[in-house]
Amino acid sequence: MCAGPVREWVDLGRQPVSNAFLKPEEVDSETFFRLAVGICADCTMVQQLEPMPTDNMFRADYPYRSSTSAGLRSHFEEVARQLRDTELTGVDDLVVEIGSNDGIMLHTLSAAGVRHLGVDPSAGAAAAAVARGVRVRVDFFDERSATEILATDGPAKVIFSANTVSHVADIDTVFRGVDRLLTPDGIFVFEDRYVSDIVEYAYFDQIYDEHFYLFAVRSVDAMVARLGFELVDVERIPIHGGSVRYTVARPGSRERRPSVARMVEEEARYGIGEHETYLRFGRQIERIRTDLVALLTDLRDAGRRVVGYGATSKSATVTNYCGIGPDLVPFICDTTPEKQGRLSPGAHIPVRPYAAFSDPYPDYALLLAWNHAEEIMAKERQFVEQGGRWILYVPHVRIV
Ligand code: SAH
Ligand code: TYD
Repeated sequence: MCAGPVREWVDLGRQPVSNAFLKPEEVDSETFFRLAVGICADCTMVQQLEPMPTDNMFRADYPYRSSTSAGLRSHFEEVARQLRDTELTGVDDLVVEIGSNDGIMLHTLSAAGVRHLGVDPSAGAAAAAVARGVRVRVDFFDERSATEILATDGPAKVIFSANTVSHVADIDTVFRGVDRLLTPDGIFVFEDRYVSDIVEYAYFDQIYDEHFYLFAVRSVDAMVARLGFELVDVERIPIHGGSVRYTVARPGSRERRPSVARMVEEEARYGIGEHETYLRFGRQIERIRTDLVALLTDLRDAGRRVVGYGATSKSATVTNYCGIGPDLVPFICDTTPEKQGRLSPGAHIPVRPYAAFSDPYPDYALLLAWNHAEEIMAKERQFVEQGGRWILYVPHVRIV
């Protein structure tokens, strides 16, 4: 967390642990917290005001599996190939991944014979990675675990992380760990959702317990400098509706690319550090809530069947912020076995296997996994051909 004062800009209300899909008997013991986000007056880092303790989230039964998406699979195969060809060129080079989940990135490097270690506290996800030939330490990455890894495996030429660094409120310990573990000329590469895209497209459901920070290039630049590193390169990538890949190195060890200054300038022009930008976002999402609830209510009253598609973490924010329960969306279908047969957090909408989607097809599908829209809409052509319609809700509510 930053030392500066954090000014609140949006309150998404009482929210559950976004990946805590419930067994029916667990409904009464659910944990909630207030999901509110603000911006640091000193360094402009957007962050939550009241963090949910992480051991509530990343448990042995944490159900998220990255490899359920073909788009993500091919993205991380490409990341692995690039790292191997450009950085991991020595025979004994070590790569460590923070938040390796089911091995979606490391399995490619493991198959190529690259020395590697995944670090992830979620034992179930780690077991899936191990089954694919990936070495994993079931643990949180921090200064303590990094020190132990250095003793057992030696220094890492590359430390990689996707969609995880922003999860760790105590970011200092991650960077102290990186400082311990990284070779003098090594790089720390991490990818995370981009706050500029979240604000521009009103992706309010990218705000949930796990995303403690919402990174901008400007705020990451200030953060890594404070922690003794230098941001040397940034690249926009089209993952999860818009992300940025940050490359961090020890100060002076790598040339700082012009991309960093260019994106910082773009952010200033867009008003990414300004409070008014976020107030506008707040008004936009209130409109989404009103329109979405009105649409779902009208469809229900007209006797139309609506089903949720994709029991995402994001859907916890949407359903709980809007007050959407099984009366409006009777079930959500999802391909992840660990989520099926459970109830969605907070809203308690049953999660059913993927096969339930076409048995029979509903009239409308609320696309909760909108970040995989292209992949899903291509796969579900038949749904549309026989008269089905998609409901999208960001950046505004519409039927397509
Ligand atoms: N890298 C994958 C998975 C992202 S989900 C992808 O981009 O799809 C986030 C993962 O980070 C989860 O598997 C979670 O268990 C793990 N995680 C959370 N906090 C962590 C920490 N401090 N150190 C290492 N892994 C962590
Ligand atoms: P995702 O949007 O990647 O992440 P998050 O949980 O961070 O919001 O989650 C996608 C969810 O959608 C995951 O539970 C798997 C499911 N899914 C399907 O059911 N079918 C599909 O074709 C795809 C791509 C995903």
